[in-house]
Amino acid sequence: MAHPIFILNGPNLNLLGKREPKIYGSQTLDDVEQMCAETAQQAGLEIVFRQSNAEHQLIDWIHEARETASAIIINPAAYTHTSIAILDALSACTCPVIEVHISNVHQRESFRHHSYVSQRAEAVIAGCGVAGYVYAVQHAARLNGSR
Ligand code: DQA
Repeated sequence: MAHPIFILNGPNLNLLGKREPKIYGSQTLDDVEQMCAETAQQAGLEIVFRQSNAEHQLIDWIHEARETASAIIINPAAYTHTSIAILDALSACTCPVIEVHISNVHQRESFRHHSYVSQRAEAVIAGCGVAGYVYAVQHAARLNGSR
């Protein structure tokens, strides 16, 4: 697979579709993966789609992406607001980084208003529901074409 788009998902996103559906909707992470794969395929690209509840696992995957990915799309979930380690891992990468949040974090509790990751992200998508992932793949494909 030549330079896939890595799509990484943080803690509790494995519960998508079951968890707080009023905030996060009823589609599952498998549905999101399928939408992303189809969007990438239309652009002639492939994806690597993963989820972990463990910060160190996300960091190891970012290190893997550093060597192989054309772009990183990441929804770090709660680690968005806490993890300097994830910011540092992303800062060690040269490919574009797109941060995605399903909900509009700025409309929610104040502790969700700050993102460590945004400092490194080329683009941030929040509040579009799971369609935000599709927009992120489209944006990654555009950036790939312009590089
Ligand atoms: C989230 C927003 C975060 O604040 C939260 O901790 C999540 C999901 C989102 O996609 O809206 O787990 O990243």
